[in-house]
Amino acid sequence: MLNLTTSSALFERAKTLIPGGVNSPVRAFRSVGGSPVFMQSAQGAWLTDVDGNRYVDFINSWGPMILGHAPQMVLDAVSQALTNSLSFGTPTRREVDMAELIRKMVPSIEKVRLVNSGTEACMSAIRAARGYTGRSKIIKFEGCYHGHGDAFLIAAGSGALTAGEPDSAGVTRGVAQDTLTAPYNDVPAVEALIAANPGEVAALILEPVVGNMGLVAPAEGFLQALRALCTEHGIVFIFDEVMTGFRLAQGGAQELYGIKPDLTTLGKIIGGGLPVGAYGGREDIMNCVAPVGKVYQAGTLSGNPMATAAGMAQLRYLHEHPELYRDLDASTARLADGTRQIAAELGLNYTVNRVGSMFSLFFTSQPVNNLEDAKQCDTAAFGRYFHAMLNRGIYLAPSQFEALFISTAITDDLVEMYLTACRESLIEAHG
Ligand SMILES: Cc1ncc(COP(=O)(O)O)c(C=O)c1O
Repeated sequence: MLNLTTSSALFERAKTLIPGGVNSPVRAFRSVGGSPVFMQSAQGAWLTDVDGNRYVDFINSWGPMILGHAPQMVLDAVSQALTNSLSFGTPTRREVDMAELIRKMVPSIEKVRLVNSGTEACMSAIRAARGYTGRSKIIKFEGCYHGHGDAFLIAAGSGALTAGEPDSAGVTRGVAQDTLTAPYNDVPAVEALIAANPGEVAALILEPVVGNMGLVAPAEGFLQALRALCTEHGIVFIFDEVMTGFRLAQGGAQELYGIKPDLTTLGKIIGGGLPVGAYGGREDIMNCVAPVGKVYQAGTLSGNPMATAAGMAQLRYLHEHPELYRDLDASTARLADGTRQIAAELGLNYTVNRVGSMFSLFFTSQPVNNLEDAKQCDTAAFGRYFHAMLNRGIYLAPSQFEALFISTAITDDLVEMYLTACRESLIEAHG
């Protein structure tokens, strides 16, 4: 068993000071039980906690640490930038360099605005779409997460044709009424929403590959059908690539699937681990944003020099090393296929979904193509599995409904270590 004395003491202190003891809910281990591990440092594939325990990291800060932790060129870039002050609140050269590189790697982005988080990026993209179209409503999919902006915290329990109910206290009915929801991978549900709200839908936003109900891939033809519907009805088509951007390919999911959205939202990975986000796309839409256009959006720390230094160093590396996507794909395939095989050998016909360097093991034998499918999982067994893996030095996302993110620091030896732990942990979880 792990010695988590210091983590536990910190968590007790934190609970008296911070809601639930954490600054983002999923960190609280609520869905797997127990109390969270407080980390101290990380290098490459390895995390070290405040009690000195070490773990191989399969979350990588929920995506951005695609090169593993503390890559030297990113640290060097930040160290260099550090001596020139931490913030100016004026334009800087690196913001221009970064916009240029983003545009080169994601060609659908003609103009881009840097913000401070993925949440901000998604909120701002929706506002730009509304300003551009002069319409109010948006369509989103059940189980897709686009940050904690009010418009995105809407459940879909009331069925595809009716407006949603707020999923969070503090979100008004008025806001909820403008958010329409459909099941993922369900084109007829989207057609019905558009037909029921003629000329009223400003934007359709989705994760082109979903990471936030566990990993769910778009069905064959799904993204193409949505693209065609949005074009036909003058709806702004938004890819939320906060998780998939620069991860599934240099140009994100849109490159992988060959689809051109109107707007794209980006996040964490473009800051190499520092707080950042971005939204961009068609020039005619982005020109609606202030100070050119009438859609107001601003930020004191937007384009922060530390974030752009780290982000540029990481993005440049990704740009100059396209072969790393092939390697990531291969190591993640070994992990995902190995997991599926081990589960089958143990008589557990569990579903494993994978796209590129993201994958999920679902504790269900049914295919998982949308949120309803994901909800069929045995979450109690997942919780036992999570802790069994943690005890063996494997750090997974503390929820069934998350994807794992693989970094280039995962070597063949670490794949073997993971697979051995996976077999033992599945047995332990089903004791
Ligand atoms: C697809 C997606 N969009 C938006 C966000 C929100 O980003 P942030 O947490 O940086 O606000 C997330 C966060 O995980 C995400 O996964």
